[in-house]
Amino acid sequence: TEQAALSRIAAAQDLDSLEGLRVEFLGKQGSISGLLKTLGGMSPEERQSEGPKIHALREAVTNALGDRKAALEGAALDARLASETIDLSLPAPEAARGSVHPVSQVMDEMAEIFADMGFAVATGPEIEDDWHNFTALNMPESHPARAMHDTFYFPDKNAEGREMLLRTHTSPVQIRTMLAVAKPSPGGAPVRVIAPGRVYRSDSDATHTPMFHQIEGLVIDKGIHLGHLKWTLETFLKAYFEREDIVLRLRPSYFPFTEPSVEVDVGFTLVNGKRVLGGQEGWMELLGSGMVNRKVIAAGGFDPDQWQGFAFGVGVDRLAMLKYGMDDLRAFFDGDVRWLSHYGFAP
Ligand code: PHE
Repeated sequence: TEQAALSRIAAAQDLDSLEGLRVEFLGKQGSISGLLKTLGGMSPEERQSEGPKIHALREAVTNALGDRKAALEGAALDARLASETIDLSLPAPEAARGSVHPVSQVMDEMAEIFADMGFAVATGPEIEDDWHNFTALNMPESHPARAMHDTFYFPDKNAEGREMLLRTHTSPVQIRTMLAVAKPSPGGAPVRVIAPGRVYRSDSDATHTPMFHQIEGLVIDKGIHLGHLKWTLETFLKAYFEREDIVLRLRPSYFPFTEPSVEVDVGFTLVNGKRVLGGQEGWMELLGSGMVNRKVIAAGGFDPDQWQGFAFGVGVDRLAMLKYGMDDLRAFFDGDVRWLSHYGFAP
């Protein structure tokens, strides 16, 4: 009966049993579908009286199925929402955090120290042309010093016909900075900049990677001499290594772009067989520097009779290793979090 069907529908406890009822009443073999089929065999009078009843029954059952379905779905949604409430009092799982790479940290540290001494930060492109990287730095074509750099060259020249390369040092930033300052007016000096960045040489072993980092320093002013260079480096290194007993030793050297050129050594002391910077029991080579060559000052757009300067170039990775006690340069670029955390650089 209609009443029995409707109460069974109202009593269905879940969507599966409701679907079972739909099939039972309205499916192809369903009881109501069966009733509809009997209409065909009836006399017209019978059909007129029975037809509307059967159709009304089908409509009532269809509506009841729809209502019950909506009710069951609503209840399911309520239950899900209730079970998925967020408990804000639970401790949050710890999210993995990144950290600044030691090389970047060391470069920031150095820039900060130099900023305190009045140095600005200058930058230049890593993809350079051979004029900025070599020629303007007093290394004309076929200069033997060019061969010492194991340069990565690009196959094509640039629009000005210059050979393109990955810069082998940060020294081309000296030229770019001087030209930028000299162009508006040579009175743009004094120049006091550092230029940190990546440099590239085709070289790889425990102390060399094809990509490494340098910080260039450049000062152009009047009356500049080697004493200014030594004081600047000493002040910087004392601040960087956080030791007052840092001693520097300047040795004559050669770079095409400085004259005179000096190799700067830093003194160390042996503590339990380990080299500790400070004191002067022994010396280790630290960086190259010198008075900016007159030809380089001229290439930078300044009159070398009026302006002097000093420059230095220091390996950042090496300074980081010395400060934090790392021994394999290649590990810097392996991206191994265990290595980073061993040296206190991972969070
Ligand atoms: N550019 C030199 C190098 O990479 C270092 C240097 C810079 C030397 C400035 C003198 C002056 O080896």
